[in-house]
Amino acid sequence: MSATTDSEFNFKKIIAAGLIIALGSIAFVFAMVSIARAAKGNQPLDQEAVNSRIAPVAKVEFAAASAGAAAGDRSGEQMYKTTCVACHEAGVANAPKFGDKAAWAPRLALGLDGLLKSAIAGKNAMPPRAGSDANDTELARAIVYMANKAGANFKEPAAKEAAAK
Ligand code: HEC
Repeated sequence: MSATTDSEFNFKKIIAAGLIIALGSIAFVFAMVSIARAAKGNQPLDQEAVNSRIAPVAKVEFAAASAGAAAGDRSGEQMYKTTCVACHEAGVANAPKFGDKAAWAPRLALGLDGLLKSAIAGKNAMPPRAGSDANDTELARAIVYMANKAGANFKEPAAKEAAAK
């Protein structure tokens, strides 16, 4: 009887000692980590580290902008791929499909000026300027891009020409 009590007591002691050692080591690791952090001096370093980490992204955006993607000077293809594609790729709401010569033929008869007027003012399901912030030049370029893929042979307007309108 008393032997059982003793061994129970010893067992509890061993468990308690084990717990103390485990908690002690955790506390020790925490202490070392915070000492290491403090030694590194975590104030201005962090800002620099963040800057250098986001730098590649910032550079990519800047490169895209200088390649002509800035609003106001986008190419017809860029306009198409960012805006017109939403409806003209699949022919949403009877939009003439990209590359569909039969659908575009009667519209091409309006000429670039006529089509540009439609795009500026909007037509049926197409909102004015296709709901975009495109200027006249960008719209005209997008129309030329689409129309020429559907059998037209329009010339892309120079930036000055369209801007003067
Ligand atoms: C929200 C959908 C939508 C978007 C986005 C859109 N269009 Fe359209 N577009 C239409 C529809 C629908 C028509 C057919 C209108 C009709 O004749 O009923 C159309 C017709 C046209 C026409 C022919 C107009 C005419 O007079 O026959 C041109 C040109 C055109 N779109 C240019 C563009 C350009 C350029 C863009 C991108 C900058 C663009 N569209 C984006 C829906 C769209």
